[in-house]
Amino acid sequence: MPVITTIDDLKRIYKRRAPKMFYDYCESGSWTEQTFRENTSDFDKIRFRQRVAVDMTDRTTRSTMIGHDVAMPVALAPVGMTGMQSADGEIKAAKAAEKFGVPFTLSTMSICSIEDVAEHTKAPFWFQLYVMKDVDFVDNIIARSKKAGVSALVITLDLQILGQRHKDIKNGLSAPPKPTLANIINLSTKWHWGLGMLQTKRRTFRNIVGHAKSATDMSSLAAWTNEGFEPRLDWSMVARLKEKWGGKVILKGILDVEDAKKAVEIGADAIVVSNHGGRQLDGAISSIRALPAIVEAVGDQTEVWLDSGIRKGQDVLKALALGAKGTMIGRAYIYGLGAMGEQGVTKALEVLHREMDISMALCGRRDIHDMSRDTVMVPEDFEGRWA
Ligand code: GLV
Repeated sequence: MPVITTIDDLKRIYKRRAPKMFYDYCESGSWTEQTFRENTSDFDKIRFRQRVAVDMTDRTTRSTMIGHDVAMPVALAPVGMTGMQSADGEIKAAKAAEKFGVPFTLSTMSICSIEDVAEHTKAPFWFQLYVMKDVDFVDNIIARSKKAGVSALVITLDLQILGQRHKDIKNGLSAPPKPTLANIINLSTKWHWGLGMLQTKRRTFRNIVGHAKSATDMSSLAAWTNEGFEPRLDWSMVARLKEKWGGKVILKGILDVEDAKKAVEIGADAIVVSNHGGRQLDGAISSIRALPAIVEAVGDQTEVWLDSGIRKGQDVLKALALGAKGTMIGRAYIYGLGAMGEQGVTKALEVLHREMDISMALCGRRDIHDMSRDTVMVPEDFEGRWA
């Protein structure tokens, strides 16, 4: 096994081990993938201020996210089809998160169900809701979340219709994969993945199959989203859902100041500045560029978090320096999961944590809360002068 020191190391192993269609599903943005690329490259435009001769003992990355104690302000984002990257992937990721002391979010489009994850973990997790047209399904999944002890509902606002990802269409993405010649050839080289899949019964969308009115193809994420998702979702519906849930709510997919203000009006406990990892509106600005204006507008009224583009511990520090109170990672942990299962997710968290801790010290700070705006230098036109 090679020595793993970066998230990219995990990605290389993941690419070898995972079936092509699931690697492509993870590693795609919509259309030209401009936003997907800029989510990461825009972090590189920010620089740290090196400060020296500062006592570096007793450092801490501990913080809180909506009142939960966290070992570092990094939560595992909801990611669809995680249980196709590695057998029982959601259970493995939730276990790694629990042991590390960071929150895990289960996607509506997961393979393992709410009940599966609850059965295999002790720490409360968060559940991400896609609002479906089937009202009974929504009522029921809220009730199932409550029963499972879910401690916050993450409502995703930027995916009522699916941004087109060319590779998924070309690959015929499905869970489980269909026995086409191309799939059989590709899967025959992924024996480690296949062995895991043979040993689990969890191979399709267990949160929805059998609970929601069926899609034309129950194994297809695109069929569920195109046919099942509620395209009429608006702020009043979000407010009603919040009321129905009655607990903490995180609104994810905010990239505009006006939407951030609406989310605050509704009483969001946190908002996630996000463009869905560049998977929805291609050509939208990167999350890190969108962050400062949103923090300025609503940062004193709700917790502002950021996702999309984080691949390094330093990216987390940069988001915090620009005012985020927390972050979420998706691909960064999926690479680890697809490479080495639960151990790989732990490795991804360790890699991020180590880089965060040491970089913070080299900025002359000992507490993650002290990563203030003056720890970084940002180009004057970073946010852009858009007309
Ligand atoms: C689903 O959330 C996706 O981005 O594929």
